[in-house]
Amino acid sequence: MTDKKSFYITTPIYYPSGKLHIGSAYTTIACDVMARYKRLMGYDVFYLTGLDEHGQKIQQKAREAGISPQAYVDSMAESVKELWELLDISYDKFIRTTDSYHEDVVAKVFEQLLAQGDIYLGEYTGWYSVSDEEYFTESQLAEVFRDKEGQVIGGIAPSGHEVEKVAEECYFFRLSKYADRLVAFFKEHPDFITPHGRMNEMLKNFIEPGLEDLAVSRTTFTWGVEVPSNPKHVVYVWIDALINYITALGYGQQDYSNFDKFWPADIHMIGKDILRFHSIYWPIILMALDLPLPKRLVAHGWFVMQDGKMSKSKGNVVYPEMLVERYGLDSLRYYLMRSLPVGSDGTFTPEDYIGRINYELANDLGNLLNRTVAMINKYFNGSIPAYAEKVTAVDADLEAFVAENLTDYHRQMEAVDYPRALEAVWQIISRTNKYIDETAPWVLAKDSGKNQELAAVMAHLAASLRVVAHLIQPFMMATSDAIMEQLGFGPAFDLVSLSLSAMPSGAKVIAQGSPVFPRLDMEAEIAYIKEQMNADKASEQEWNPEEVELKSDKALVVFDDFDKLEIRVAEVKAVEKIAGSDKLLSFRLDAGDGEDRQILSGIAKYYPNEQELVGRKVQIVANLKPRKMMKKYISQGMILSAEHDGQLTLLTVDPTLPNGSVIG
Ligand code: ME8
Ligand code: MG
Repeated sequence: MTDKKSFYITTPIYYPSGKLHIGSAYTTIACDVMARYKRLMGYDVFYLTGLDEHGQKIQQKAREAGISPQAYVDSMAESVKELWELLDISYDKFIRTTDSYHEDVVAKVFEQLLAQGDIYLGEYTGWYSVSDEEYFTESQLAEVFRDKEGQVIGGIAPSGHEVEKVAEECYFFRLSKYADRLVAFFKEHPDFITPHGRMNEMLKNFIEPGLEDLAVSRTTFTWGVEVPSNPKHVVYVWIDALINYITALGYGQQDYSNFDKFWPADIHMIGKDILRFHSIYWPIILMALDLPLPKRLVAHGWFVMQDGKMSKSKGNVVYPEMLVERYGLDSLRYYLMRSLPVGSDGTFTPEDYIGRINYELANDLGNLLNRTVAMINKYFNGSIPAYAEKVTAVDADLEAFVAENLTDYHRQMEAVDYPRALEAVWQIISRTNKYIDETAPWVLAKDSGKNQELAAVMAHLAASLRVVAHLIQPFMMATSDAIMEQLGFGPAFDLVSLSLSAMPSGAKVIAQGSPVFPRLDMEAEIAYIKEQMNADKASEQEWNPEEVELKSDKALVVFDDFDKLEIRVAEVKAVEKIAGSDKLLSFRLDAGDGEDRQILSGIAKYYPNEQELVGRKVQIVANLKPRKMMKKYISQGMILSAEHDGQLTLLTVDPTLPNGSVIG
């Protein structure tokens, strides 16, 4: 019986609150690469991905779409699965937090923690960001808004999203109880978090200042797992979400075979934005459940755009579908895995995207394959000569170089450093291209005494490409297959015993290789990608408001601009002519704010009998910056009037409207 080593890897479960962009595609492909690598290394792999379908944000999105939350997440789940199919993601399970087996366990776990005293009922007051599904204390907010008395009435979360005040009965998780154990765990497992620096960041920023108890239920919306013993509460999305990593393996259910085999997880792959949840809350939940902690968290940086974070309104979002359709899947997988340096953010640029395809894929790799296939056809009728070691010093040098980079590749894969792993492969490719120039096969071919040397060169070229095809297999499956096919090897990938010299003999290359990557017109394709990014912006808005003809003399404004004005009903208490001006009248008005205000208005000539205005209810702009007129009069607002044929008429309103009523 073979008892394979097991390997369990997970992606975050994504919020299906919109179309997934290359950010989520990045994480999912990164896990796919590792899953495929480990399978090729002989592991029994379980690769989990899925969706985080509960919470207020989803409920809101469904409402906007005019459908039930369940219908909304069902359709999103379908489109996400389609995307993973397009990206050839080899997941073993797709979990949805609305799956009933998951919901049952979440409810059970919550009750268990309650019974154990890890969770207690209290009252929560603070700030909640719907977009982040996260609570904040006042001091955690990036910005606070205050009223005149200095009371905080709103604010902005560190993510830039607005927060709302909440005060509600709420269950809390006693995180503080586990803080010491967590610190001890960190100390004993210095490799728990990749990149290493982030562990210290978690300790310094969150654990050492003291862990506050975590609010773990909500009563203000219903789209979540109900707390069985108190159903007006739903379980906080993050508790619900994190538990997916074990419910997917059968935890809390009938069949524990997957759980026994795969837990604890070997790698939870996440973005840096959610490291706190995974490095603090998740381990503490597991401690409370008396379960082993995951072996490793790999937190990657973000793909950003030249003008900052990807955002639909900026028109800088790149969707994977477009790139795959135009340039194929392998270049997308290659680009994403090659371009995001470990531990930091990376910038997506169309220039870089097309550049890598042309230089690294079409040129370096594509040319090596084409030249090799062509020469073996020309000099050996398509049959790859048998491999013999170190026929010349150049051969020996290539052999050593490949062996070195093979080792480096595995080391970098273990470190989940894909840019460096691919760099090792491209080192082999460049070195092999150089080897062609050094050995100059076209010269050897002219000298029949050099036939053995020429054979060795061809064998080394084929062997080197065979190694390359193996090493890129987790990243670029189709390209890898194409190389093997063109060399006549057929798809057989054994990464464990891979070496240059392990090349099977007797393979026959195909008669004429076609390029694995066509060379692209740089300028045209860069323009194409940019255009698509903007097209997505337009389609996101569905229609362009500028295109709708509005008969207006002024430029269009957005609602937010209009909303800056405060227009109110005010009653005219007194009117006076202003000495020295035949235009201005001075009004004393009650705009409902306790104190009368004075407004000067240039309508004297339209109301020669100005006292008739006393008692009228008019409309004023109440938040216009006060200004000084006629050197000594302060005007505190503006009275609205209508103009027709050069005639001004004050806009009056129904006299039953109370003073101060807001118009809008
Ligand atoms: O946070 N670059 O879901 P989410 C790279 N449901 N990766 C990016 C990215 C970018 N620009 N944008 C997003 C949630 N990501 C929770 C997770 S897990 C128990 C619950 C990736 O839809 C990155 O992996 O907001 C990040 O952590 C994840 O998407 C966040 O996905
Ligand atoms: Mg997020």
